Amino acid sequence: MARNTYEVDEELETGFDIEKLKRISIYLKPYKKTIFWILFLMATSSIATMFIPIIFMEAMNSAIPQKDMSQIVRLGIDILAISIYVSIVLKIRSRVMTKMGQNIIYEIRKDIFTHIQNLPFSYFDSRPHGKIQVRVVNYVNNLSDLLSTGLVNVLTEAGSIVFIVCFMLYIDVKFTIISMIGLPVLIFIICIINSKQRKAWQKASNKQSNLNAYISESINGIRITQSFVREEENMKIFNRLSGNYRDSWMQAVKYNFLLGPIVENISAFSTSFIYVLSVYLIINDKTMLTAGAIVAFTSYIGRFWAPINTIVSFYNTILTSLSYLERIFETIDEPIEIKDKEDAKDMPKIDGNVVFDKVCFSYEEGAYVLKDISFEVKSGQSFAIVGPTGAGKTTIVNLLSRFYNINSGHIYIDGIDIENVTIKSLRKQMGVMMQESFIFSGTIMDNIRYGNKDATDEEVIRASKTVCAHDFIMQMENGYNTVVKERGAGLSTGQKQLISFARALLANPKILILDEATSSIDTETEIALQEGLKKLLQNRTSFIIAHRLSTIKNSDCILYVDKGQIVEKGSHNELIAKKGAYYKLYMSQYEFLK
Ligand SMILES: Nc1ncnc2c1ncn2[C@@H]1O[C@H](COP(=O)(O)OP(=O)(O)O)[C@@H](O)[C@H]1O
Ligand SMILES: [Mg+2]
Repeated sequence: MARNTYEVDEELETGFDIEKLKRISIYLKPYKKTIFWILFLMATSSIATMFIPIIFMEAMNSAIPQKDMSQIVRLGIDILAISIYVSIVLKIRSRVMTKMGQNIIYEIRKDIFTHIQNLPFSYFDSRPHGKIQVRVVNYVNNLSDLLSTGLVNVLTEAGSIVFIVCFMLYIDVKFTIISMIGLPVLIFIICIINSKQRKAWQKASNKQSNLNAYISESINGIRITQSFVREEENMKIFNRLSGNYRDSWMQAVKYNFLLGPIVENISAFSTSFIYVLSVYLIINDKTMLTAGAIVAFTSYIGRFWAPINTIVSFYNTILTSLSYLERIFETIDEPIEIKDKEDAKDMPKIDGNVVFDKVCFSYEEGAYVLKDISFEVKSGQSFAIVGPTGAGKTTIVNLLSRFYNINSGHIYIDGIDIENVTIKSLRKQMGVMMQESFIFSGTIMDNIRYGNKDATDEEVIRASKTVCAHDFIMQMENGYNTVVKERGAGLSTGQKQLISFARALLANPKILILDEATSSIDTETEIALQEGLKKLLQNRTSFIIAHRLSTIKNSDCILYVDKGQIVEKGSHNELIAKKGAYYKLYMSQYEFLK
């Protein structure tokens, strides 16, 4: 059974991939110096703290037995100085590293958004938008722990382990070895749960992604939901997805909670074992070690296991971050299938001659949506495409803007194959008004100016007048400066269409594509629009897709497509005389109008 996209987990990558961590180092590169200095400071502070047990040893072995007050005070001051130094270093580290972490996150987010902007339509067709959002926002945020504190912590902690072991060896080699017998046990346990834990985190990130996809879809479709009274049903789906996320998260953190106590226990066990052993040895006179040395040594054991605990718990952060990094880099690596050829040149100023030469196209492999489409449109002509829903009309015009790559055949504009020119230079010279007119949040003025940033207010108003949008805009609260909300809430579909009409006109393209651009405009406005439309089409090659045949009757050529193939082609009169598919369509509308 086919399942909803929000129910399908994204594919899991296998194995701990060190490449991912290496890749993040590219982002760390500009901060090499900063990291070096922080590491240096951390190392000095960690060495400084190592002296505390030695100071205690000194106090117990000489100062206290000799009741040497001045030495005790001196040792006290030493400890105080070390503590102050350590706290200053900590403060500097937090400040610097948090800033660095946030800067890197900013960079990654920029890279991912830049990349997403360039991804082809097919990418967005194939996955829920909520899953894309979660990558840009949540996953990137989740790297913050790794970058601001994590990496430096692990490096310093690893370094401090080396120091501690040196100090321990300095006190007693045998004890040092004995106190570390817990280490292989820990490594063994980590090896066992390692892959389970990683998978658990990947699963949790998948469930989060699914939940997000569903939330995003629900918000976009809230009107339909409420009008079909589907709230309860949706609540059930939401609860299930949300529950899945909670469960997978709980499953994953279960492993995190496991390791901490294990490390604590091993540490406590080693410490007490050393106590018992050393006291036994001292009582039986089998060692030269002093009581002070034993206290210092056991304190080092605690200090030895503390960084291991930090590293182990940070290991979890690495695992989570890796599962997020997987998604982030996967997005950044997503091939931009529609891109400029290496030797692509800018499209010269378009004259407007368009040729489709045996174009075949499929969205999904094997299922051809367009078969062998060939036609020519002379510059300045208006070219209408009609046919039943799903015939492939929108697809034809989408290919002209190179929103998708064609499977075979060629599309030429002024004799130049559009595959050989830069996409930007091509799209800049085309005005597309899609089936769904998209209105961005902002003023009406900005929305109309979307395709031509430099247009003056007068030009915007002129364009609006041409497409009959001026009157209704003026009736709005603040006229052209009225702020429209996201997706144009507060505007009727027809009004949105008129605005995007003005937007397309203002861009002043040589090729204009109107895909059911007037479908939601009332007949009266449309008749008024005819004049404007005529002006609009002057000196431009235009592709008009419309259901209302009155809109296209005057086109220079009409193409009737069905099931991705051209059925008829000719002027209105020719096709009427032919008494074929177009004639039937025309008559049905004519009957209807009578
Ligand atoms: N993004 C897409 N992914 C897969 N199939 C699509 C996509 N868009 C359209 N199709 C399919 O291609 C065919 C033609 O669609 P379209 O060109 O939009 O038809 P219309 O003539 O109504 O504009 C339809 O069968 C539709 O199901
Ligand atoms: Mg369509």
